[in-house]
Amino acid sequence: MSELHSHLRTRIVAAAGGLPLDVVAGLVLQPAKDPAFGDVALQCFALAKHRGQPPQQVASALAAALTPDAVLESATATGPFVNFRFRRAALAEHVVGGILHDRAPYGPMPPTGQCIVVDFSSPNIAKPFHMGHLRSTVIGAALCRLHRHLGATVHGINHLGDWGAQFGKLMTAFLRYGSDAELERDPMRHMFEVYVRYGKEAKADPGLDAESAEHYRRLESGEDNLERRLWKRLRDLSLKAFEGPYRRLGVTFDHVTGESFYEDKMAGALARVREAGILEESEGAEVVRLESLGIKEPCILRKSDDTSIYATRDLAAIFYRSATFRFDRALYVVGSEQKLHFRQLVGVLKRMGVPEAERIEHIDFGLILAKNAETGKWEKFATRGGNAIFLDEVLDEAVANVRRIIAEKNPDLEDRDAVAEQVGVSAIVFNDLKNSRIKDVKFDWEAMLNFEGESGPYVQYAVARLAGILRKADAEVRGAEGVDFAHLADAERVLLPLLEFGPALQRAAAQSEPSVLTGLMITIAGEIHAYLRDHHVLGAEPAVRRSRLALVAAARKVLKTGLGILGVAAPDRM
Ligand code: ARG
Repeated sequence: MSELHSHLRTRIVAAAGGLPLDVVAGLVLQPAKDPAFGDVALQCFALAKHRGQPPQQVASALAAALTPDAVLESATATGPFVNFRFRRAALAEHVVGGILHDRAPYGPMPPTGQCIVVDFSSPNIAKPFHMGHLRSTVIGAALCRLHRHLGATVHGINHLGDWGAQFGKLMTAFLRYGSDAELERDPMRHMFEVYVRYGKEAKADPGLDAESAEHYRRLESGEDNLERRLWKRLRDLSLKAFEGPYRRLGVTFDHVTGESFYEDKMAGALARVREAGILEESEGAEVVRLESLGIKEPCILRKSDDTSIYATRDLAAIFYRSATFRFDRALYVVGSEQKLHFRQLVGVLKRMGVPEAERIEHIDFGLILAKNAETGKWEKFATRGGNAIFLDEVLDEAVANVRRIIAEKNPDLEDRDAVAEQVGVSAIVFNDLKNSRIKDVKFDWEAMLNFEGESGPYVQYAVARLAGILRKADAEVRGAEGVDFAHLADAERVLLPLLEFGPALQRAAAQSEPSVLTGLMITIAGEIHAYLRDHHVLGAEPAVRRSRLALVAAARKVLKTGLGILGVAAPDRM
C-alpha cells in the first residue's frame, strides 16, 4: 500500500471509530469508477453491515466526517461509495518522490515471512518441450519475481519430468533407432525423432511396449545398470539443452529437482498414506478413493506391476517441500488438462487430514493457438505434424521478425542484434501474460510485434522514449529534491496509474494473475505518451522542466520495474 492509501485508511478508521479488526481489513480502496468522482473510492457495504445501517447513509456520514487535510482535498459520497480526491501536489509528491526514492511498493517490499513454492516449467525430458511448457515457464517465472518483490521467500522449482514409464520407451527407441553422434549433436531433436518413430512402430509391434516396461523396471530397480547409465546420460544432455532457452527467457530456478529426486522418498510417502488408513487395494494396485469428496476417479499411488507413477512422486514432493520449506502456499503452474490430477492430490491430502491440503493451488492456464494457414482457423499450436516445439526455434523466429522491423524502421540503431533479441523474446513473454491466464493465447506475430498495439514492444518503446528524453536533459534525475510538485498538478492521468502499482501487484499475487500488471503497464505507457503529446519537457522553463523530468524518470522507472517482474527486458534504446 502506498503512503497515500495508508493515510486515507488511517483517517477512515479514525472517523468510523471503534471498528473490529476484520472490518478494518475489509476496507479496501479501489480506483474510482469515474475520474470525475475522485481518485480512489471506498465501498461501504461491509461497514454498513457492521453498523446495521444502509450503505448510502454510512457513506454520507463518512464523507462528512472526512474533512480536508494536507493530503486530502475532498471526500464525497456517491450512493454506497465514498470518493476521495487527493490534493494534486500531494499526489505528485507521494508518487514521484516514492518512486525516485525507491520506497516500497516501487522498490522491493520488506520481508513478510511468507514462504511460497512455485512449481513451474517442468518439461519432460523424454518427450519434447511443448507450448504448454512455454506458458508455464513464463507465468511461473513472473509469479516468482512478483512474490519476491512483495517480500515473500520464494522457491522456484523445476519439477523436471525425468522419471516414469516413458523412459522405458525412450530407451527402447534410442537403443533400436538412435545414434550416439546424433544424440551428442542435437539431443532434444534426436530424442524427439526416435520417440516419434517408436510411437509409430509400437502400433504395429506390441512387443516393443513389453521391452520398454522391462527397461523401466530395471531403471526403477535402483541398480547401477545399463538403464541407469543411459538414463543419466539422456537427462544430463537434456538439462544442458534447456539451458539456452532458459537463459534467453531470463528464467532461473532455485531448485532443479525432477521427479527422479523423489525416487527414494516415495516409499515414505506411501507409508504415510497407509498409516492414515485410506490406502485401499484395487485389482492389485493401491489407491485412495475420493468419492466422498465428489471425485469419481480414485488416485492410484502404486500400480499392480509395483512401479510408481506421477501422482506418487507428486505426493512425495509435497511432503518433502512441506518439511524442507514450510511453505504457506505451493503454486503449481501447470496446464488445465491436469486439473483432475491436482484435485486428486488435494483430495488425498484432505482425506489424510493434513494442513497442506489447504495450501496447494493449481495455477492452470489456457492453450496457445496458432492460425492454420489453409483454413484461417485458430488451432492448438503444432509444428512438424506434432504438438512438439523446439523452444529455440520459436524464439529465433520472433527475433528474426524484430530484426526485419528494425532494418526497416531504425537501420542505424546501435546494438541491433542485442535489441532484436530482447524485443523478440519479450514480445512472446508479454503476449503470454497479457490476458487472464485461463484464456487461450493467440500466437499472432503481427499483434505481438505491433509497436502501436497492446504489445511488449509498445511498452518497451515507451521506456526507450522516456530514456531518450532523460539522455537529452543535461542534468541527471536521481531523487526528487528541488522539484516543485505544483507543476505536476495536471499530471493526474499519469500519476493515478502509477499510484495503482502497489495495489496491482497485490492483486496479481493474490490471484496469481500477472495480467493485472501487464494491463497496468499498457495504461501507464499510454498515459505517459498522451502527457508528452500535450506537454513540453526539455523546452519548458527550468522549474517546470525539472518537475516534468522527475515525472518522466518516475514513469520510466515503474515501467522498468514492472516489466522486470514480468520478465520483459526494457532496453533504453530501440
Ligand atoms: N512434467 C509434467 C508435464 O509435462 C508437468 C509437471 C508439473 N509439476 C508437477 N509437480 N506435477 O506434464
